[in-house]
Amino acid sequence: MKININPDADPHSRIIVALDVPTTAEAIKLCDRLPQVSFWKVGLELFIADGATILRELKSRNKRIFLDLKLHDIPNTVGSACRVATKYGADFLTIHASGGKAMMRAAQTEVQGSSTQLLAISLLTSISAQELASDLKVNLDIAEYVAQMVLLAQACGLTGAVCSPHEVANLKARLSSQSDVDFCLVTPGVRPQGFASGDQSRVMTPKQAIAMGADYLVIGRPITAAVDPAAAWDQICQECS
Ligand code: C5P
Repeated sequence: MKININPDADPHSRIIVALDVPTTAEAIKLCDRLPQVSFWKVGLELFIADGATILRELKSRNKRIFLDLKLHDIPNTVGSACRVATKYGADFLTIHASGGKAMMRAAQTEVQGSSTQLLAISLLTSISAQELASDLKVNLDIAEYVAQMVLLAQACGLTGAVCSPHEVANLKARLSSQSDVDFCLVTPGVRPQGFASGDQSRVMTPKQAIAMGADYLVIGRPITAAVDPAAAWDQICQECS
């Protein structure tokens, strides 16, 4: 079955804003300031702080949810966690591809038939080439390791993967020959023109990332830490159109 990963071509619907704040109260304040945002990402800090409260709040506002929990454990544990997570009605949920095939398949089995789709984390962008080789003893360069993880995730039936915008073109080329099911690539590390890159080392503008083939962009601080978040959102949307 072909999954329609981005039903409307409206570029605004491709922008996922990271709700990287420590409390539900702060998250709600941001949602109130940005009613035009339709897709929010809830990460570990907020989820651990306040459980499902923010997820219920976002659902009540008819928002789409990216639940970025980056799960990694034995197949039974991750599968069970995914089954419970489907009850929140999140649209995307992340698991680490390095958990292996059995873990990814167990997770996929549990979300099948629900509205929650799984995205694989290929490699944390904080891992350098030297750490990969010297500490993790992986005998592949970063691009090849990421491609292997993403192809493994596709083989396990996942919906997509999170990757750097710099990896999108190479991955799209390799994925397209693997299957006729759409596989979606979601990219953080996006910075609009004129914004400091901060701690993101290899950034691209939203327009460049979409041109490379990114299906969704995750953008946090350029919007949420802006003096005027709504103006920052407008600028990014204009750049993408
Ligand atoms: O503020 P900024 O735009 O850098 O936020 C990016 C978001 O994407 C953060 O929530 C961060 O945790 C997430 N992320 C990332 N790099 C990854 C995976 C997720 O920056 N490889």
